[in-house]
Amino acid sequence: MKIFISGIAGFLGSHLADAFIKDGHQVVGCDNLIGGELDNVPVEAEFYQYDCCFRNSMLKITKGCDLVYHTAATAYEGLSVFSPHLITQNIVTGSVSLFSAAIENKVKRIVYCSSMARYGTNNIPFKEDYTPSPQDPYGIAKVAAEDILKNLCEVHNTEYVIAVPHNIIGPRQKYDDPYRNVVSIMINLMLQNRQPFIYGDGEQKRCFSYIDDDLFCLKEMATNPDVNSQIINIGPDEEFISINNLAEKIANQLKFNLNPRYVSGRPQEVIRATCSADKARRLLNYETKTKLDDGLKKMIDFIKAKGIKKFRYHLDLEIINSKTPKTWKDKLF
Ligand SMILES: NC(=O)c1ccc[n+]([C@@H]2O[C@H](COP(=O)([O-])OP(=O)(O)OC[C@H]3O[C@@H](n4cnc5c(N)ncnc54)[C@H](O)[C@@H]3O)[C@@H](O)[C@H]2O)c1
Repeated sequence: MKIFISGIAGFLGSHLADAFIKDGHQVVGCDNLIGGELDNVPVEAEFYQYDCCFRNSMLKITKGCDLVYHTAATAYEGLSVFSPHLITQNIVTGSVSLFSAAIENKVKRIVYCSSMARYGTNNIPFKEDYTPSPQDPYGIAKVAAEDILKNLCEVHNTEYVIAVPHNIIGPRQKYDDPYRNVVSIMINLMLQNRQPFIYGDGEQKRCFSYIDDDLFCLKEMATNPDVNSQIINIGPDEEFISINNLAEKIANQLKFNLNPRYVSGRPQEVIRATCSADKARRLLNYETKTKLDDGLKKMIDFIKAKGIKKFRYHLDLEIINSKTPKTWKDKLF
């Protein structure tokens, strides 16, 4: 198959590209590099440094593709209430432009990476049939893109799948980004012998998954007939832990003397968020093979091998006021 992957220089997109290339598929991809790195793009892939927001470019590079994986997004949930224009344009405009081009080019199926932000403050564990209740512009934009995808695919008879990955960790994840990826930020700080920052009281709870466990399901979504038109959570529902416990686990592995710096909570942050994996188990044989401690160890090994990095404040804050985290306003990382 000829597979198009948007966001191919990103964490998920580059791993997907590797996996499909290994299986003998032809991979074409694009990335505007706002959140990814050129080094991540496999050399065997046909790469275009294009922005998904430009439909004509998408029309050109999706020609002849059988399948589209749309992983490109400004995946910055917490930042989205402070830089809503930047975050939502790359999610809504970028998605609609790619969907429109892919459908015009008659691709068979579009697999869209949404986010657990779609569930907002619903009861946990989040199930796919819940009514979305996103709490911030990132989640609202993800749901808008989902709705437009469903609508267009139903009208034009294109297959689609909505994947809902959540809190993935693993090699290639950006760890010099002050705006996202709590695990990477904590490891990068502790390796620099610096205390991590924790927003609020640290009792927010999440489940974290290791990239390899998600890849298997994401790849299955390419052709499995049972998942056409489905929304499916991808990731574990075991080891639901607080950010305080997460910091302790990382500190234990690094033998770091932990004394976190607590700062004000971030607006709209959902306190307890975890997804049910029942549907993925049933339709995609999902299985959590990597325990959290093992995933953390692999992440630590990756960052140690690459070397610690200074944090880069590479995105502009559009709204700066008393609610803006001081970690960002005062560049504390
Ligand atoms: N990693 C996770 O834990 C997680 C959880 C839930 C959802 N997701 C979703 O999965 C997808 C991939 O996430 P990720 O962790 O790999 O993020 P990532 O930032 O590593 O990858 C996204 C890539 O998209 C690119 N991009 C952004 N806007 C673009 C545009 N307009 N045109 C072209 N390229 C653009 C970025 O440069 C980046 O390389 C995203 O849609 C994200 O919202 C990820």
